[in-house]
Amino acid sequence: MDLNRKIIAIDGPGASGKGTVASRVAAALGFDYLDSGALYRLTALYAQQCHAGWSDETAVAALAGALPAEFDGSRILLDGRDVTDAVRSEAIGMGASEVAQLPKVRGALLQRQRAFLTEKGLVGDGRDMGSVVFPDAALKIFLTASARTRAERRAKQIGLPAEGLAFERILADIETRDEADRRRAVAPLKRQPDALLLDTTRLTIEESVKKVLDWYAEI
Ligand code: DC
Repeated sequence: MDLNRKIIAIDGPGASGKGTVASRVAAALGFDYLDSGALYRLTALYAQQCHAGWSDETAVAALAGALPAEFDGSRILLDGRDVTDAVRSEAIGMGASEVAQLPKVRGALLQRQRAFLTEKGLVGDGRDMGSVVFPDAALKIFLTASARTRAERRAKQIGLPAEGLAFERILADIETRDEADRRRAVAPLKRQPDALLLDTTRLTIEESVKKVLDWYAEI
C-alpha cells in the first residue's frame, strides 16, 4: 500500500491550534503524530544549554543532528530530562524561529522528521510538512486563524485576560514570529497551491477536527 495515502500534512502559523487539531486527528485515525515545531524548539533549547549561539549555523546544525530527544506520549525529554514546559516558553519559541532560518539546521532535522512515518500513518504539523518534508502527502492543509484570535487562544491557555498590556505583548510576539517565518529564505511559511485552507478563526477545535477528518475521508 502506498504509505503517502496515510500522511496528513498540516502547516500554518504559530498558536493557530494546529497542534491540538493535528494530534486529535491522529488519535481519531490511529496515526502517529509529529510535532515538528518541537524539534526546532528542542534544537534552540539544546543550543542554549550547550552555549552555542542561535545564529551559529555549523554548531547548531551539529547539535540538531544529534539531539538526545525522546517523545514519551505528551512528554518531551532532552538528555533524559523533562523539558515539556521549557520548550514551550516564548523565549525558546523565538530561538526556534531563529534556528529554523538556518538551512543546515533544517537539513539536519529532515530525516529525523521523515523517520516518524511508519505503517500506522502520520499526521505532521509544522511550517513545511506539505512542501518539503512530506511533499507527496495524501492530504495537505494550511490551518490558520487571525493573529488576534491566536493571541486570545494563547492568553487563555496561560490564564491571562484577552486585553491589557500583557495581551498586547502576546499579540505583538505572534505578529513578529509570523513575519520572521514568512520572510525567511528557506522553507518560508506560505500556503502551498495544493493545500486546502482551513481558517479556524470562527471554528471550535471539534469543528476543525471534523473538517480535517471529512476531507481525509473524501480522498
Ligand atoms: O509551531 P511552533 O511554534 O512550535 O514552531 C516553533 C518555530 O519553529 C517557529 O518559529 C517555526 C519553526 N518551525 C519551522 O520552521 N518548521 C517547522 N516544520 C516547524 C516549526
